[in-house]
Amino acid sequence: MEDIISLKNIDYSYFSKIPALRNINLSVKKGEMFSVIGLNGSGKSTLLHIINALIFPDSGEVLLDQNPVTEKSLRDKNFGVQFRQRMGYIFQNPDIQLFCPTVFDELLFGPLQLNLSLDEAMERAEQTLSYLGIGYLRERPVYMLSGGEKKRVAIASVLTMNPDILLIDEPLSSLDPRTQTFFIELLLELNHAGKTIIFTTHQLDLIEHLQPRVAVLSDEHTIRKIGTASDILGDEELLINVNLVHEHVHKHGNEEHKHYHSHYVFHKH
Ligand SMILES: Nc1ncnc2c1ncn2[C@@H]1O[C@H](COP(=O)(O)OP(=O)(O)O)[C@@H](O)[C@H]1O
Ligand SMILES: [Mg+2]
Repeated sequence: MEDIISLKNIDYSYFSKIPALRNINLSVKKGEMFSVIGLNGSGKSTLLHIINALIFPDSGEVLLDQNPVTEKSLRDKNFGVQFRQRMGYIFQNPDIQLFCPTVFDELLFGPLQLNLSLDEAMERAEQTLSYLGIGYLRERPVYMLSGGEKKRVAIASVLTMNPDILLIDEPLSSLDPRTQTFFIELLLELNHAGKTIIFTTHQLDLIEHLQPRVAVLSDEHTIRKIGTASDILGDEELLINVNLVHEHVHKHGNEEHKHYHSHYVFHKH
């Protein structure tokens, strides 16, 4: 399979002084599930922003299907429109994303932006509501939704545009367990249907569930390793090194017992 997204030697600092990404090289294949993991502050969201051309790197190159993504190339009408249409971004905080008076308006917005007719846009919105099981929210103002419902509406508002690449920042953050399970299944289904999915997380259990290819970001904002989910989950030394797990020593009677666990997952001894 060919590369759909490539990042070459990307550097980025905020205000030219707060480093966020250093010499990032990676490529994602068409139809692949790919994740970026790392501690808070390692640069995960910045990386997604760069891929989505919300910000542009200080140096290095982003390619979509071998075409450079730059402020200049995006000014080309065809390329710019195609780029926005193909790439769906789901923010960590759905409040940033939702701004229409009702859920249904929210779902009409994208298709209308793509110049579909009102009938077609309404059909897309209806299909997506039913696909995500949120038809009952149709007339609801977006400020009257629970966190889990907001997240469903946010993803729905992106899916109405039928993007082939989904960028998802911390898909499970602040969701209740039932919505988390729903999301895990949805991501697997969308990937199975051919969508390229790139997501960030600091939750190793999500890597275990979704089995994506994984790029590990360090505190120094560099990529430490890229590998399969099992490669990465099996590399304890690396995970300790980037502070995603820590070594835990405790005693059973007089016997010392050592194991590793994630900082983020509750565990039982
Ligand atoms: N808008 C911003 N202004 C200044 N610094 C920022 C901004 N966003 C992120 N940073 C800094 O850039 C680095 C990477 O942040 P971020 O990409 O948000 O990491 P992550 O998503 O992994 O938590 C951090 O040091 C963070 O403080
Ligand atoms: Mg982040």
